[in-house]
Amino acid sequence: MAISFSPPDVREEDIDAVVEVLRSGWITTGPVGRQFEQDLAQYSGVNEVVLLNSCTAALELALRVLQVGPGDEVIVPAYTYSASAAVIAHVGADIVMVDVAPEEYVPAIDEIVAAVTPRTKAIIVVDIGGVPFDAASLRERLEGTGVDADGNPLLDALDRPVVITDGAHSLGAIRDGVRAGGLGDFTAFSFHAVKNLTTAEGGALTWRSDLPVDQSALTATVRRLSLHGQTKDALSKMKAGAWEYDILEPGFKANMPDVLAALGVSQLRRYPEAVARRQAIIRRYTELLGDAFAVLVHEGKGFASSGHLQLVDLGEWRPRREEIIAGLAERGVAANVHYKPLPLLTAYRDLGFEAADYPHALRQFKGVLSLPLHTLLTDDDVDTVATALLSVVRALPSVR
Ligand SMILES: Cc1ncc(COP(=O)(O)O)c(C=O)c1O
Repeated sequence: MAISFSPPDVREEDIDAVVEVLRSGWITTGPVGRQFEQDLAQYSGVNEVVLLNSCTAALELALRVLQVGPGDEVIVPAYTYSASAAVIAHVGADIVMVDVAPEEYVPAIDEIVAAVTPRTKAIIVVDIGGVPFDAASLRERLEGTGVDADGNPLLDALDRPVVITDGAHSLGAIRDGVRAGGLGDFTAFSFHAVKNLTTAEGGALTWRSDLPVDQSALTATVRRLSLHGQTKDALSKMKAGAWEYDILEPGFKANMPDVLAALGVSQLRRYPEAVARRQAIIRRYTELLGDAFAVLVHEGKGFASSGHLQLVDLGEWRPRREEIIAGLAERGVAANVHYKPLPLLTAYRDLGFEAADYPHALRQFKGVLSLPLHTLLTDDDVDTVATALLSVVRALPSVR
């Protein structure tokens, strides 16, 4: 029996919702997207959400709203997916990479603060596996560091670098009573096909409701930047007699069509149960595997994750990771690896980053794998995966 890593959980009601939009006469950005934005805002406890076509676009638009560009620095962890750092290169700013804390998947707040310079405009933190980074404590620690606002009113008001949470994994996570979306100053979500909630491709940008800006003006700016810099969206422009428009800046094209938003509206309706099911699967994995391996902790004092990735540190079997992945594959179980640290990738090596400067990220990467985690897994599947992992490692010659 084959157990996939993260197939999309698309149900009849999702298909019906998409078909309804296809039949409606309006298929790109419009009322269904607005509905999804409102539903997401309510679920995440924030006021404003702008739907986009990816998390990458959301991260990039956050930097663009802050007018981050050449000469500026943005801090990012070495242990993440390329998108978290690529957006810094897209806007022409300098990438400043920080290592993770020893035996952790995220950097220590002290290390991040130590990397801040007068040129730091923003810090991107990552909610790895759905575990919410403590962005509120980071924001607090940054108070008083100051920032060269370069005339940007938001940076001027904050007087510190802006904290942008890469929440690609963390829709629904919670820390100290605050849902993902309200932890970083800005948060970017992903609805890519392998994510907890999917629109096939998609993302959203949101920000803290008490960010010192005109909230609805910021929404209008992000919307405009995501649609060519155009003063009118396609739906209003199509109304009879309403063709006239202006382009205020040479903007992006990153809006989400209603066909995809329909999937989101439908999936969000059952999302709380999906997160609960993921947490139940994680508890079972922890029960079965926690004695043999260091299983990523998804619930703890003051936080609960969205249960996106089941990372497992293979402990004494770390040097045999590739054999273990192959052994799982032979038993029909698809495992994965999150993440190859950025300095191991050609693009970042070419930018001058060296793996040796990020020893903790390298150590984590070498011994980690991710197990299947999704809402199509049965309890038996979970037991099968755990048993397969234990039997694969037991069949290996001792490495002690
Ligand atoms: C940590 C992280 N950030 C950003 C992204 C990019 O998301 P998207 O594909 O929606 O742009 C991903 C996608 O896998 C991710 O894992």
